[in-house]
Amino acid sequence: MASKEKPVNVFAELISALRAAADQNIAAQSQVLESWSRYLPRVQQGGPAWLAPLRQLHQGWADAVVTLARSQQEMIDQQFDTAIKSFESVWTKPKAADASPAPAAVAQPVAQPVVEPPPSVNGSKASPTQSVEGDMNIAQRVAVVTGAAGGIGAAVAKDLAQRGARAVVMVDLNDAVNETAKAINKEVGRDVADAVVGDTSDPDFRARVFDDAASRHGMVRICVPAAGITRDALSVRVDKESGKASVYPIEDFRKVTEVNLIAPIYWAMEMLARIAEDRRRRGLKRWEPTEEMEGAVVFLGSVSSQGNKGQISYAVAKAGLEGGAATLMKEAIFHGVRCAIIHPGFTDTPMARALGDDFLNKYVLPFTQLRRLIRPEEIADAVCFMVSNSAVSGELWADAGWHPPA
Ligand SMILES: NC(=O)c1ccc[n+]([C@@H]2O[C@H](COP(=O)([O-])OP(=O)(O)OC[C@H]3O[C@@H](n4cnc5c(N)ncnc54)[C@H](O)[C@@H]3O)[C@@H](O)[C@H]2O)c1
Repeated sequence: MASKEKPVNVFAELISALRAAADQNIAAQSQVLESWSRYLPRVQQGGPAWLAPLRQLHQGWADAVVTLARSQQEMIDQQFDTAIKSFESVWTKPKAADASPAPAAVAQPVAQPVVEPPPSVNGSKASPTQSVEGDMNIAQRVAVVTGAAGGIGAAVAKDLAQRGARAVVMVDLNDAVNETAKAINKEVGRDVADAVVGDTSDPDFRARVFDDAASRHGMVRICVPAAGITRDALSVRVDKESGKASVYPIEDFRKVTEVNLIAPIYWAMEMLARIAEDRRRRGLKRWEPTEEMEGAVVFLGSVSSQGNKGQISYAVAKAGLEGGAATLMKEAIFHGVRCAIIHPGFTDTPMARALGDDFLNKYVLPFTQLRRLIRPEEIADAVCFMVSNSAVSGELWADAGWHPPA
């Protein structure tokens, strides 16, 4: 997306920018003080009498700067407190009042451009509805989807865009994500998809994506960390000739765990941390059910989390995600963020197609009630449902009735 758009939460972002500017100002003054302070001892070390006034001058000047810096800081803190209180009072106002603001509220400059633009669509493509207390609306929200070059990630990104997301940051190791984002923008008819190429297991890259997203589009509030890999092999394989047993390569185990388990959880925690800081800046503490949801995370688990032959590392990583989702679900609600996990069955993406037609026809389709692969759009629809419907928490199995024999 080439053009820089208006920040989503104008007032909150203004406060945060002002505070940063104030901090910089104080830091600059401290630096000046520090660099000048090294002259003071020399002046204070006795010396000729004519230095005394100079010493007083320096001391007086330093004191004056300290006083000035302190009073500036106090003044800024007071102004922030007042602004945040006004902000809070409007933020926590009942929704009915928000929908048609009283003239008095319009007249107060601090109370006006308060929250993110009121969502018009409750995550639904078909019927715009009034926002309900505790809902998480997709419309006007900023989302990050990883593994978005193709498959399920691309389908989720497109669905979020179609449901009115303000921006969808599409992350993938594969630079095909650029083309996927372009295609989504064309189809949706606006510059909503923003592609970024990089490795989700790189913490610096992760922080950069969230920094850029915040400055280009606003606070990220929807996170679907879908990037995933497989390194399938039996846990223990016995060589027919030699009778020697080899175990699953540990480096593959580490890689699969890094990408499929650790990275998604850290992407979710990155969003959570930023939302938590933002609430803190706005003077908000524990999330109250009368507020709108602050954010939502949906992890991509798998039916393999229940155990699947040849997928020791993948199954462990996906089962681990269940623990991550369950723990974050309990912790993140303090900050108004919901976490959940979806377990797709075999879905028609490059990952499943890599298994080969023979495998799919022999081991997958006969044990799937639908007798076909799941479409990525079906998983995307379920993910958006999990994001937008706040009554949904925990796990959702979207496996097309796959019941493999033992
Ligand atoms: N397809 C299925 O049958 C199925 C079933 C259950 C769960 N899932 C899960 O759904 C998610 C999406 O799977 P898919 O089927 O669309 O797979 P896919 O292989 O089609 O897409 C995965 C994407 O992740 C990207 N990726 C991989 N490692 C990355 C990294 N380190 N950094 C950034 N991007 C990276 C790949 O480039 C790819 O575009 C995965 O987590 C997968 O485990 C898939």
